[in-house]
Amino acid sequence: MFVFEFVDDDVRVTIEPGASVTDTLEPLGSIPFGCDAGHCAACAITVLEGGQAGLNPPTDREHYTLTDAEIDAGARLACQLIVLGDGHARVRSFW
Ligand code: FES
Repeated sequence: MFVFEFVDDDVRVTIEPGASVTDTLEPLGSIPFGCDAGHCAACAITVLEGGQAGLNPPTDREHYTLTDAEIDAGARLACQLIVLGDGHARVRSFW
C-alpha cells in the first residue's frame, strides 16, 4: 500500500500495487490530469518528502517532459507513477 498525502488540501489516499494511480487520484481533484501519457505535465506534482520506496523511478517520458533540475527537486508526473510496494509521499501540485 502506498500513501499519497496532498499537503495543501489535506487529502490522503492509499493505492495498492497494481492499481492505476491516475484512476485513483483524478477523481479526488487535488491535481488536474490531461493527456494521461506524460506529454502535457498537467499532472505534475512535487514530492516534498518520501516516495523513494514504493514508486517506480522517473520514466523516460518524465525525463523528456520535465527538466533534470525539476526532477532533482522532486517533480514527478502522476500519470507516469506506478505503485510497486509500500511507501508514503507528502506531495503538492507542481503548479
Ligand atoms: S496528464 Fe499529461 S503528463 Fe500526466
